[in-house]
Amino acid sequence: MAKILVTGGAGFIGSHTCVELLGHGHDVVILDHLGNSSRVVLDRISEIAGKKPDFVLGDVRDRDLVRDTLAAGIDAVIHFAGWKAVGESVEQPLRYYTNNLDSTLVLCGEMERAGIRRLVFSSSATVYRSPAEVPVGEGAPLWCDSPYGWTKFMNERILSDLAVSEPSWSILLLRYFNPVGAHPSGRIGEDPAGIPNNLVPYITQVAVGRREFLTVNGNDYPTPDGTCIRDYIHVQDLASGHVAAIDYCLKHQGVETVNLGTGTGSSVMEMIQAFEQVNGIRIPFRIGPRRPGDAPMSFADPSRAAAVLGWRARYGIRDMLRDAWHWQQANPTGYQQPDIDRVPSAD
Ligand SMILES: NC(=O)c1ccc[n+]([C@@H]2O[C@H](COP(=O)([O-])OP(=O)(O)OC[C@H]3O[C@@H](n4cnc5c(N)ncnc54)[C@H](O)[C@@H]3O)[C@@H](O)[C@H]2O)c1
Repeated sequence: MAKILVTGGAGFIGSHTCVELLGHGHDVVILDHLGNSSRVVLDRISEIAGKKPDFVLGDVRDRDLVRDTLAAGIDAVIHFAGWKAVGESVEQPLRYYTNNLDSTLVLCGEMERAGIRRLVFSSSATVYRSPAEVPVGEGAPLWCDSPYGWTKFMNERILSDLAVSEPSWSILLLRYFNPVGAHPSGRIGEDPAGIPNNLVPYITQVAVGRREFLTVNGNDYPTPDGTCIRDYIHVQDLASGHVAAIDYCLKHQGVETVNLGTGTGSSVMEMIQAFEQVNGIRIPFRIGPRRPGDAPMSFADPSRAAAVLGWRARYGIRDMLRDAWHWQQANPTGYQQPDIDRVPSAD
């Protein structure tokens, strides 16, 4: 069993991954400035896992803090920390490039200094040029439509160069497709600030009465029902994918790029209908214009994840939508915590 530093571990994917890591007997240290998360998550992780993660409040760009944190016997790092809103990144590119690149540079510099060379990095299917041929394999052409996407692309480049420079590095670049759902306990889940950018939190906020209706962004795409098709993956599956990635990293060297998706695409209309069927709630919606940059169809070829990590997604959209609704019902306004604990962000 290993001691894992999880940057951004209080966030949506990080919190579920911490529960899974603790459940597998690993020790966990979370480093997060809570800029997009809540301290409440830490108690909830402990409650579900029956074991408390260590928590360090701070910014991954704080070199001294990262050095001290790594000195606590860390074996490997999962680097989730970063900003993630595509639209916001178009409006605030410097804020995105600064946070998402500097955090990796500081973290890896200090890992190199400490001789800790095992890293799992959160990348995204947003690095694939769209429209892509489906299913999308890891060798598909790359191109990004937003500063956020380019930060993932550049991080992948930096980490690949690092692995070439020093062969004892073990780095996994995980390209997530569309993470949704929540822990089945309903205690942790996705808590977007402001208007959700993603479909499922929007649906659950309509269902709980926080929003009047859902806007479907275009129904004239070249897909069977005209709405966009995506590969939705349960956050619980992503969490187990990270445990498999850590196990792999602890035993291998070099750099690997792996899709984390289910291999199945679902349209926006299919998601609305599945939500209504599973949860027995009608979702009022209106058809709006297309959203610039949205590809008609994207879903993963997940075969490399099976071959390299021995990992496959287990859950389908009905599980994701049931668990997302369970979380939203139990926490209608999310974690709803004051900002008192947040570290003022350097940007
Ligand atoms: N959720 C998605 O749809 C999705 C898809 C593909 C990739 N990803 C990537 O996965 C990672 C995790 O995503 P998420 O959905 O859990 O996001 P999230 O915003 O819920 O979690 C990110 C966490 O990182 C923290 N953070 C950000 N910058 C930091 C810094 N400099 N120092 C310390 N903490 C910092 C935030 O406070 C937050 O708790 C991100 O890198 C994101 O880009 C997410």
